[in-house]
Amino acid sequence: MTLKLIVAAILATAVPALPALAETTHEKIKTDAGRQYFDAECRRCHAVDARDPSYGPPLEHVVGRRAGSYEGYDYSEALTGSGIVWTPAALRAWMEDNDGFMPGTKMRHVGIDDRTVQDFILSYLASISR
Ligand code: HEC
Repeated sequence: MTLKLIVAAILATAVPALPALAETTHEKIKTDAGRQYFDAECRRCHAVDARDPSYGPPLEHVVGRRAGSYEGYDYSEALTGSGIVWTPAALRAWMEDNDGFMPGTKMRHVGIDDRTVQDFILSYLASISR
């Protein structure tokens, strides 16, 4: 009888926690996939740790950052003068067609138009922005 009660009590607390757990696992899988895409498509030009050498600007804390605002990086005028903030929507447009979105940028064209892949990379960029 007591054991039944204990089991019931455990289930009652564990069950509501399950969706939260699934949510965390889902985010982690997306972030891990995003890291792999980032390594394949972006890493050769973008360090994440600002102490590493990098041809492009470091991207830690990029989500929510004003475009062209990484201290000491020699941006194109197109980027510094754009006046945009790197929201998820702006980052999506950038990944899809950066030089169409912002003519005059010195970042070589990338064309990631698969929304799922964009989602993964966005998850990863968000994870290095916290
Ligand atoms: C061939 C090198 C190269 C690759 C590959 C590359 N980038 Fe860039 N990236 C740059 C350069 C150079 C700049 C600076 C552009 C400028 O000043 O116009 C830049 C700028 C950026 C910025 C603006 C940052 C800021 O501080 O305003 C973002 C965001 C960005 N890149 C994301 C990405 C993502 C995401 C990928 C992969 C999908 C990627 N880049 C791939 C070279 C690259």
